[in-house]
Amino acid sequence: MNNYGTLFRISTFGESHGPAIGVVIDGCPAGLVIDETFIQSELNRRKPGQSKITTQRKEDDTFKILSGVFEGKSTGTPIAIVIENQDQRSKDYSHIENTYRPSHADFTYDAKYGFRDYRGGGRSSARETAARVAAGAIAKLLLKTVGVECYAYVSQVGDLKAPHYTQLDLSKTEDNIVRCPDATTAEKMIALIDQVRLDRDTIGGVVTGVIKNPPVGLGEPVFDKLHAELGKAMLSINAVKGFEYGSGFDGVNLRGSQHNDEFYSDAGKIKTKTNHSGGVQGGISNGEDIYFNVAFKPVATIMQDQVTVGKDGSEAIVSGKGRHDPCVVPRAVPIVEAMAALVLADFYLRNRAARL
Ligand SMILES: Cc1cc2nc3c(=O)[nH]c(=O)nc-3n(C[C@H](O)[C@H](O)[C@H](O)COP(=O)(O)O)c2cc1C
Repeated sequence: MNNYGTLFRISTFGESHGPAIGVVIDGCPAGLVIDETFIQSELNRRKPGQSKITTQRKEDDTFKILSGVFEGKSTGTPIAIVIENQDQRSKDYSHIENTYRPSHADFTYDAKYGFRDYRGGGRSSARETAARVAAGAIAKLLLKTVGVECYAYVSQVGDLKAPHYTQLDLSKTEDNIVRCPDATTAEKMIALIDQVRLDRDTIGGVVTGVIKNPPVGLGEPVFDKLHAELGKAMLSINAVKGFEYGSGFDGVNLRGSQHNDEFYSDAGKIKTKTNHSGGVQGGISNGEDIYFNVAFKPVATIMQDQVTVGKDGSEAIVSGKGRHDPCVVPRAVPIVEAMAALVLADFYLRNRAARL
């Protein structure tokens, strides 16, 4: 449905071209300092119109907190946040009122509900993810109080790949518009996305998430395993096609003797020499970095004619109009971080009830 989380629980609402989108966060513990400047800076990282390689739609994404915060701290009651929509051009979408964009959500929404809000893609638009980023910022503030940090960066665009995260300085992610901390790869990625935009096409990529300093013991046997919830959270993001954690699909190429993460004691603290497990064993965090990859498709709206059908089944031609992202991964970085923070914050609170 439109909710995520068990104890730290969010409900998002709103459509792309309605008056506003927003989120209600239930279960945020009282007394957390709510840094509104930080929430805004997170929203700014996701908002459209931030560089030449993102959509030119202009939205300030300024938010208003309606409840749950008093004198700068959470009160323990539901925190409601609204973000008004500003730069709607619903006429850019009149051509899809009765026609289905290939590989978008138009056909499935119509088939399921019988009709749909086609303006800007309605609820299927990634505009909804602004609400998640606002909630994720509060989850990040909560996690910061216990030393947990959630990072993400662009690790691949098309076939251009950055080195493994252990060889990168993640503090450099915001140094360039593609959000890849490796400057040389970033430059190539930007040129590639720019070319794809000029070709009136789109291209996919990978966002890598890294959670530093996670406590040991997060994750619930057996269906709510930590990696299973991270996978669900990431796969719920628009345009995501794949999720892998730790060694992921590459792990099948190794033998157990190569893949096993041997333990050692670091002045009494149990650690592992390698981290193919991606910080999760048996669905529970082991205290090592949690890392994962999220694959985003080349998104549907291309500025080219494509064959499709109308609602009545008659053949039609549809072409992208308005302002769209040629590659969504730079803007997806804060979304991946937000979803990771929401999962971790929820498991952190749940784990406090795990034993006497
Ligand atoms: C940050 C972000 C921006 C997006 N922008 C666009 C866009 O401009 N055009 C488009 O067709 N899809 C865009 N999408 C993807 C669509 O929302 C998504 O593909 C669509 O809802 C269909 O869902 P699915 O791809 O998950 O099946 C974007 C996704 C994200 C994460």
